[in-house]
Amino acid sequence: MTVDKGIAPDQDRTARVYAALPEEHHYTIEQVDGALPKDLTGTLYRIGPGRHQVGKSLLHNIFDGDGMVSQFVLDGSSVRYRNRYVRTRHFEHGQRSDRIRYRGVGTQIPGGMLANVGRLPANVANTNIVNYDGGLLALWEMGNPHRIDPDSLETLGRFDFDGKLGFLGAFSAHPKWDPATGDMYNFGLDLLPTPRIRTYRVDRSGRLHTLATVPMLDLVWNHDFALTRRYLVFVLDPLLPDLTKIALASHSFIDSLRFDRRKGTRFLLVPKAGGRPRIIEHEALLHFHLTNAYDDGNDVVVELVRFDTRWSEVRRATNSVNSISADGPRFPDSRLMRYRITAGGTVIEQELADRSVEFPQYDWRLSTRRHRFSYLAGKGTRAAAVYDSIIKVDNETCATTLCEFPGGSVGEPLFVPRSRDAGEDDGWLLVLNHVLAEHRSQLVVLDARDVGRGPVATAWLEHHIPWGFHGTFSRRIARLEE
Ligand SMILES: [Fe+2]
Repeated sequence: MTVDKGIAPDQDRTARVYAALPEEHHYTIEQVDGALPKDLTGTLYRIGPGRHQVGKSLLHNIFDGDGMVSQFVLDGSSVRYRNRYVRTRHFEHGQRSDRIRYRGVGTQIPGGMLANVGRLPANVANTNIVNYDGGLLALWEMGNPHRIDPDSLETLGRFDFDGKLGFLGAFSAHPKWDPATGDMYNFGLDLLPTPRIRTYRVDRSGRLHTLATVPMLDLVWNHDFALTRRYLVFVLDPLLPDLTKIALASHSFIDSLRFDRRKGTRFLLVPKAGGRPRIIEHEALLHFHLTNAYDDGNDVVVELVRFDTRWSEVRRATNSVNSISADGPRFPDSRLMRYRITAGGTVIEQELADRSVEFPQYDWRLSTRRHRFSYLAGKGTRAAAVYDSIIKVDNETCATTLCEFPGGSVGEPLFVPRSRDAGEDDGWLLVLNHVLAEHRSQLVVLDARDVGRGPVATAWLEHHIPWGFHGTFSRRIARLEE
């Protein structure tokens, strides 16, 4: 197969969303349509798999690409762009060799079971990037974070919170912050010696404290959680590993999971202050991401994006990278949902929007409290295989507002408040849009209050950014170090 910047010539344009960006760039963006808001200053960081390759060997699962950080520096009148790969062992090896030497989440080492048995997936640092202690952490949910310099994006090494996390310690990719204290909360899944969820609090000085460690009755895979004033809220779907496949390494990690609808989903509420966790049984759900959660009297309310399809289809969607199929990727149907868990253990379900969405965001100053507006990537009014719209949902009225990008592929919209004391929804949404026909990406600024109006400003990159996962915004303007 001929590969030109990762695009096979017989593939649909949609497949370009996963095309590699092997080069590392640093430049001031020249083409800006519209007017950049003068008070939108700071630095946007985004991360995702930048290339699904080891040398010239192609990888096929979206979770296995090398983590690449993009940095957009906004000073009120211009945008400077830089991208840099996280220097993981997997990345460094792929610079020297075409041989797949490390196992991935969806990738096996060639050579059958013997080549894979006893090997854990390699840490590719590709899932989220968050502010920590004046710098950045690139996160990957099955292992340690990597420290990243916020100015140069240089990789400063693996980080285990001064030994408290442990060498193999998992620090998941979706930490949450308590606005009342500034503490960061997170969890890690330990599979050995016995399966358990370990929960953490990282105080404002950066020290990591282990909270509860909750044994799991069944091994499950879990990606995200949410925070209320009282609880860490987990929604544990019945994604169970086939223990024979895991033990023999006969299949990749993701191909070793099965969705057992009979087992149902468990809401697990872990008290922040200690004490016994609550477990509430519910019918089987399938999801990756939560929006927010809050206490409402004695009830707990949590919002999430539920996939309305079979696990096999979700898994297939993750395995569509570098596919020779002309179909390209096809993101599954989903819905933004609310679950109210009463003190008596009843779960009340409500659909908040009738569109397929993912990457739910909101005003993070409202973490642990009721938020009114959610912002998501999703499918608009056209038949699209990937997300081509930013969708705002009013959680009180269930009204939706769309900003559509026909022929585009958008990712997670991050909300940035206009000022520190601006109200909810008074700010901007920062979105990456990949214009597939031109194979270039844009940084798009939307007014969150008027999403339907379209972009306030659009900064055109000279190239595309491969479809990525998550990001963060810092009010600090990254320095030019040269
Ligand atoms: Fe995620």
